[in-house]
This record gives sequence, C-alpha cells and structure tokens, in this order.
Amino acid sequence: MSERLEDIAARMMASGKGILAADESTGTIKKRFDTIGAESTADTRRDYREMLFRADAMKDYISGVILYDETLRQSAKDGTPLVELIKTAGAVPGIKVDAGSKPLAGFPGESITEGLDGLRERLNEYYELGARFAKWRGVINISDVLPTRGAVRQNAQALARYAALCQEAGIVPIVEPEIMMDGEPGDHSIDRCYEVTEFVLNTVFDELYDARVSLEGMVLKPNMVIDGKNARKASREEVAEKTVRVLKSTVPSAVAGIAFLSGGQSDEEATAHLSLMNELHNPSWPLTFSYGRALQAAALKAWGGKAENVAAGQAAFAHRARMNSLAATGQWKLDLEKAA
Ligand code: 13P
Repeated sequence: MSERLEDIAARMMASGKGILAADESTGTIKKRFDTIGAESTADTRRDYREMLFRADAMKDYISGVILYDETLRQSAKDGTPLVELIKTAGAVPGIKVDAGSKPLAGFPGESITEGLDGLRERLNEYYELGARFAKWRGVINISDVLPTRGAVRQNAQALARYAALCQEAGIVPIVEPEIMMDGEPGDHSIDRCYEVTEFVLNTVFDELYDARVSLEGMVLKPNMVIDGKNARKASREEVAEKTVRVLKSTVPSAVAGIAFLSGGQSDEEATAHLSLMNELHNPSWPLTFSYGRALQAAALKAWGGKAENVAAGQAAFAHRARMNSLAATGQWKLDLEKAA
C-alpha cells in the first residue's frame, strides 16, 4: 500500500529540517555554472549534485530534495542512483514537474506555467522512479499595475489542477505561487508585495478548494513579503512580521506546512527572516526553507567545478544548511555566521 500523503508531508516538514531545491533546469544550472566558469554537461551536473547529496549535512538538516528530470534518472559515479543517495540520507526525493513559464496570451508582461498535458502519466513514472513529492511554480510579476486578476486566476487554476493530479498519484504537491522580488521593474514596496501576496494566496486557495485538493496532503511554497530588489529595504523584523501576518490571514491551518523560496535574497537574509518568523510570530504551521540559491550559492562557489574542492563545497553547504536548520526552529543568531 502506498504511503499516506499526510505522512509524506510530515516527513518533509520534520522539525529542524528543510528542503533543498536542486531542481534547476538545464538552462538555469548552466547560468549558475557560468558564474564559476564551469562547463555544464550531464557529467558535471551529476558531479555537482552528487557532492551535495553525499554531504553529511543531508542527514541532519535536509528533509527532502527537489530534483530535475535529468537528475532523477542519473546515477552517481559509482553507479548508485542519485535517488538512493537521497533516501540513504533520510530525505524524501521530489521532482519539478512544470515545464516552465511562457508569455500568457492576451496579458502583456505576464506569464503562465505550462506542463499539464500528459502530467498524469509523467507523475506515475516519477512515482516509480522514487519521487514522493513534486513542485510546480507559478510566476507572478509585480509592478504598480501587475498582476492582473486574469493572470493570477489562470496560474492558480494550473496549480490546482497540478496538485489534484499529484495527490491522485500518491505524490505530495508543493504549490508554489512566486511573486517575483527580483523581476523588473523591481521597485515595488513591501506593502505592495503584501497586497499582491494576499490576493494571490486567496485566489490559489479558492482554486485548490474547487479542485478538491487535500490541504493536509500539500505543502505551500510562498515568497516572503519583501520589497523589490530595486526598492528601499525593509528591516528583517518587518519582513518577518508582514510575512507571517499575510500567511495567517490567507492560508488554512489544515495545510501540512510552509516552505519558503529564497527568491534572490542574500543567504543571510533568507536565514534571518525565517528565524525571526519562527522566534517571534508563533506561526500556525511548521515554517521552514525550500531554498535553491540561498542554500547552494556558497557551496557552488567553493566547489568551483573542481573534484579536489568537493570537501570544501560540502563544508560550505553544511554551514548554510545548519544555519537554516536553526532558523527553522527560530534559533539562528548572527554571531553563528561570524564564528564560521
Ligand atoms: P530559490 O530559493 O533560489 O528562489 O529557488 C527555489 C525554487 O525552487 C524556485 O522555484
């Protein structure tokens, strides 16, 4: 008998752990590798991910890993499937199933995420390959005039259809409506972000309800409420307070948990914000991280594409993972960064 969705979600939200988003598409990982001057080939992508999944830090701090299709099918250099490395570390393998965002017809400057056609069959295959949760990201652009009601509704409907298909397949959906902090023009205020986040989350939960998605068997992956990259910087306390406030006013308490994206925040900001939320604001759900850039940037740089740097890459990853683990229980402190 397959594992209950609620039990998988509970493992993903294990206390003091969070999710490693390592699901960069081939195009995105190439951009990351370009920053360290490394070539992006199937083997170098495998080597980089093998370095992360074999790190000791996985056992202590990581509850799940989001993979890209290629990685889910790859094996380590010694022939062990990468999925097995993740399971051995006690983490749940997951899979990005959306096919990326494309311009939305009739809505200049807005996009829609594709990938619903054939999704039922793909999910069944991913289940066989070992995935027990999935991710779909809706992209919401923000400015004085965006997003439009129509674009938000269409992205929410796609998220809801995806989530229902996941649950049918015995896979926990991570529902990710991302309001872009690092998009253009990026001059929006934190209060504009609050207003848009509130509208988007209300619309998403409305559609999830109509699609009969079980809230106990899903995880929400939201943005934090934060200024655009080109705007004034709100204090860390303000980000934490406004983020928990908007979540409490829109997310039903039956939702299994919330795991944030980092979205272009610096490593330390992403950690500090999460820690303050857990320390000061008594959230109604487990609140943890599902970071890509904010968990990997230091490790990628320390590795630099060279086999002799694997231990250094793993040490950098361990530090960041430990800081975020502390944040997931509200216990991170700035001097722990300095000490390292
Ligand atoms: P970032 O944490 O780098 O935003 O990535 C998380 C993710 O999975 C975005 O879809």
